[in-house]
Amino acid sequence: MTLPAQKFRTIWGGAFLSYIKTLSKAMPQRVALALTLMILIALTEGIGILLLVPLLHLVGLDVDEGSLGEISGHISSAFAVLGVVPDLPQVLVFYVAVVGIRSLLSRWQTVTSIRIQQIFVADLRHQLYAAIATANWLFLSRCRSSDFVHLLTVEIDRVGMGTYHLLYLAVSLAVTLVYIIFAFQISAVTTALVVLCGAALTLLVRGKMTAARSDGREISSTTSRLYASALQDMDGLKTVKSYGAEERTIELFATRGEGVSQRYIRAISNYADVRSIFEISSVLVLSFILYVSIEYLEISTASLFILLLLFVRIIPRFSSVQQSYLQFVGLLPSFVSLRETLSRLEAAAEVGPDRDEEVHLSDGICLEEVSFSYGEGRPPAVDGLSMKIPAGETVAILGASGAGKSTAADLLMGLIVPDSGRILIDGVLLTPARIRGWRSKIGYVTQETFLFNDTLRANLLWARPTANDLDIQEALKLAAADGFVSDLPSKMETLLGDRGARLSGGERQRIALARALLRRPSLLILDEATSNLDPENERRIQRAVEELHGTLTIVIITHRISAIRGSDRIYVLEKGRLIESGGWDELLAKDGRFTSLVRAQGIVPPSWTPPH
Ligand SMILES: Nc1ncnc2c1ncn2[C@@H]1O[C@H](COP(=O)(O)OP(=O)(O)OP(=O)(O)O)[C@@H](O)[C@H]1O
Ligand SMILES: [Mg+2]
Repeated sequence: MTLPAQKFRTIWGGAFLSYIKTLSKAMPQRVALALTLMILIALTEGIGILLLVPLLHLVGLDVDEGSLGEISGHISSAFAVLGVVPDLPQVLVFYVAVVGIRSLLSRWQTVTSIRIQQIFVADLRHQLYAAIATANWLFLSRCRSSDFVHLLTVEIDRVGMGTYHLLYLAVSLAVTLVYIIFAFQISAVTTALVVLCGAALTLLVRGKMTAARSDGREISSTTSRLYASALQDMDGLKTVKSYGAEERTIELFATRGEGVSQRYIRAISNYADVRSIFEISSVLVLSFILYVSIEYLEISTASLFILLLLFVRIIPRFSSVQQSYLQFVGLLPSFVSLRETLSRLEAAAEVGPDRDEEVHLSDGICLEEVSFSYGEGRPPAVDGLSMKIPAGETVAILGASGAGKSTAADLLMGLIVPDSGRILIDGVLLTPARIRGWRSKIGYVTQETFLFNDTLRANLLWARPTANDLDIQEALKLAAADGFVSDLPSKMETLLGDRGARLSGGERQRIALARALLRRPSLLILDEATSNLDPENERRIQRAVEELHGTLTIVIITHRISAIRGSDRIYVLEKGRLIESGGWDELLAKDGRFTSLVRAQGIVPPSWTPPH
């Protein structure tokens, strides 16, 4: 979709202003300091130029004519007020002092700018990270995580570079303005000519500026795609190798990389074009002005000298103002995409209290007519589900793939919110204010375990940083993981690799279970948590879970019936609806869906009939 030019410009202006507003709101004092320094730098530049007048006078040039004469008069009175005799040594000392001060101010300004840039970047990064971490799960599950990584690294750095260019642009503008004002005092006509030429040049490169903006946008989106594919390829390296698809992925990645390079080259060649246009034009303009001033305007040698000196400085400034502006607008798309993502994330924030409310589970959990759908027009993943999970009991949720079991678990944890119906913990509604307190009481183990690339100890302590060695050993034993951990070369200090890649799938699952148990949860949710285990280890964990029976509330989610024999209650789901519930024997007696599952999985012979 293309925006009408007018609308695009408005949005653009909005982004420009919004950048300045965000920056000055983030650190008003530092920005004020940078601006003050900018003004002081411009002033010292001006004073430096003014000092040329008495210098030229001392050299013997006539500085008493016309406008230069007026300026010369003001300078003499200023010297008189300061009690300084404008002789050569005094003026030179003054000049050295002014240039020295200017250079110190400039250094201070550079350091302040870089500080502003870094603090701004760190602030934004923190804000974005926090917004990602606190957004609701449903929203996050629909986003591309590589986009977040790209924003947190490349894009935020580009936004920071924008600060540098913006401040540089402001300094260049301030100094150019001082030069122009001064040159105007000496010769209005010549200065007007230069300014007009500068304006004409700006118009000439307008097309380049529009190109810079769209280049900036394209760089943002193509690097983002490059990031997405790189992260995805790294995750899937094993699959790529097993399919022998290395060359194909290398080629695809190279093409994407090439796309990014092309856009960078185009952007830089745009900047280079602008610089060349300005350099060539400035020589032309200078020659033209020299010619006009000498041939047609009666300008004294001293005035001409100062004017030339000013123009030699002004004209490249035009170019650097343009350059900084181009660089800045080229980086603005990164700011726009950061701002858009931030506002989408903030709109999707999980609302919660400042302080987590304590949630106790001593009575039980109750789902009342809970329904949830993953989007409009989609069939409900959980449909009018009512179930009771009494505290201390082990409850199983059974059902075929896609029946809505994991969705039910996400609802239990408050990761997603019911479209209708209620979830009560000990008879109290699970409101957003109670969700974080509630989650702190839950241990959750899934089929896809996530382990950090750190030591085994660090991975376990992540769940409860205050746990001691005894707690850890106990959790490992409960999770049937103590045996293989003691066989690891560095035991608890073993590095687990990316996502725990140095462990087998079953070992990872047992560590994940130990981590959940270390937390001493009130509710343990096992979602296909033993799916990667061999029968012997599965039985060990089942025994461990049976031993935990009564000490905490356990929800076992599975489609394998053998795993739920010891459960107090079984809920059978089909297409999001509860179709059967009850104890093992009770359900078998019903001779319904559960019984057919039991038969299908060979737990009882197919010829078995329930006792009446
Ligand atoms: N993040 C999601 N976005 C959209 N639809 C989803 C999402 N997660 C699950 N679904 C859909 O919701 C339905 C229930 O999925 P759910 O993951 O709860 O099933 P499940 O019983 O846990 O299945 P499995 O045994 O395969 O894990 C499925 O039809 C699935 O396609
Ligand atoms: Mg599932």
